Amino acid sequence: MFTGKILVVDDDPNLLELVRARLEAANFEVLTAVNGEEAKEAVKGDGIDLAILDLKLAGQDGMSLMAELHSLNPALPVMILTGYGSIEGAVEAIKRGAYGYLTKPIDPSELQLQIARALETRRLASENLRLKELLKEKYEFTNIVAKSDIMQKVLAGVARIAQTESTVYIHGESGTGKEVIAKAIHFASERKNKPFVAINCAAVPEALLESELFGHEKGSYTGAVRSTKGYFTQAHEGTMFLDEIGDMPPSIQPKLLRVLEERQFYPIGSEKPVQVDVRIIVATKKDLEEEVKKGCFREDLFYRVHVIPVRLPPLRERKGDIPHLVTHLLRKIALQTKKDVKGLTPQAMKKLMLHDWPGNVRELENTLEYAVTMAEDEVITEEILFEMGAPTTVGSQGPALPGDLLPVNGSLKSLKAARAEFERAYLIRLLQQCRGSAAKAAEIAGKYRADFYDLLKKHSINLQEFKKTE
Ligand SMILES: Nc1ncnc2c1ncn2[C@@H]1O[C@H](COP(=O)(O)OP(=O)(O)OP(=O)(O)O)[C@@H](O)[C@H]1O
Ligand SMILES: [Mg+2]
Repeated sequence: MFTGKILVVDDDPNLLELVRARLEAANFEVLTAVNGEEAKEAVKGDGIDLAILDLKLAGQDGMSLMAELHSLNPALPVMILTGYGSIEGAVEAIKRGAYGYLTKPIDPSELQLQIARALETRRLASENLRLKELLKEKYEFTNIVAKSDIMQKVLAGVARIAQTESTVYIHGESGTGKEVIAKAIHFASERKNKPFVAINCAAVPEALLESELFGHEKGSYTGAVRSTKGYFTQAHEGTMFLDEIGDMPPSIQPKLLRVLEERQFYPIGSEKPVQVDVRIIVATKKDLEEEVKKGCFREDLFYRVHVIPVRLPPLRERKGDIPHLVTHLLRKIALQTKKDVKGLTPQAMKKLMLHDWPGNVRELENTLEYAVTMAEDEVITEEILFEMGAPTTVGSQGPALPGDLLPVNGSLKSLKAARAEFERAYLIRLLQQCRGSAAKAAEIAGKYRADFYDLLKKHSINLQEFKKTE
């Protein structure tokens, strides 16, 4: 069995044969080259562990050849061969990245010793790199709390999925971590150094969505004064995350289908197709099969996106994760708010464990953020949790507006907390009044629709709940 593959480059065939015989006797596989061209070819082919170069070749000097070989394979250890008496050249070579040098005539034991050392260094370096990669992988997942068995299984699946190119279909209730998982897949994949581009199909008005996704040529519609690149072009070689895919308007679904089938599309107003290399991840909280039955989502598109499904369980199915999430989220909130709350009283924790969490992890995060803002000392007590009643359960009258926030006697809340409470109560009242019509509500609130959706998201408010009460 060979213990390594060594390339020897020298314009003296006699020396080449001598070195070959010695190295083969020591169980190395040997390739030889008499000039730079042959040497480069050998390095392009795979698997050279070490190169030995004569510093003075006929057509080219060894130093520049070393640089060329390093540009082909930066990790290749190169040993320089130099005639007796030209040590300066060898020293210079080491400065420029040679691993070591050997003087002619070659001393067989010195040769073996040097080679063994170089190979060991290379092995350690690649081992190190592998460990670093592993660490990094772990690190990417450290932002995700997943202690429960059910989430452990999800994460194990995610790690495997990341290594593939298949389209991923993430489904789960609002706030279960769909976006977190989409990012984790991207950053654990080969595409991690390329863009991760996300678009929320529900937040972009239909009239704009097509040009946001596919871009447009100048003059293609009124107002298109400049050509723009769409998200799909920006995501080239990376990952495209289509959030709330269930809200993709029927008018755009055929174009999306074509991208999924052919990775090709026409920007608005252009006759030249654009070819892209993107990995696609979609997410939805809607039951897409139901949408297909209702005729709101094309069946062929459904099968194109429903390739590798990942189901994110609601928080009430993994309550064991709550204490770990609390620790993680409190740390995150402390960084944002500069207010370092140490933890919860046992009663407060119990209250969290008993809650049903319709808004899942996002609701937990909001609840804690609110509690941290309100907390007067370093621990969160049960009284300040869900002060306004459970955050996402909406009573028929809706929560009170300002009166409660401004008690005549007693202590006032911080402005930030009071503002957040007001905003939430206002949104709930507004949606009740508009019977869940986001368009109407946004208009009354004087907000763009996308910003209005962001507000609802911030407060874990589910539009559907207001539609049901119609
Ligand atoms: N397993 C988890 N570990 C740590 N943080 C989490 C986890 N899951 C979700 N979060 C946090 O909860 C919040 C909501 O997560 P995310 O936005 O990914 O949910 P989502 O399912 O996309 O929600 P929506 O349906 O509302 O868009 C984020 O702040 C995220 O960082
Ligand atoms: Mg989301």
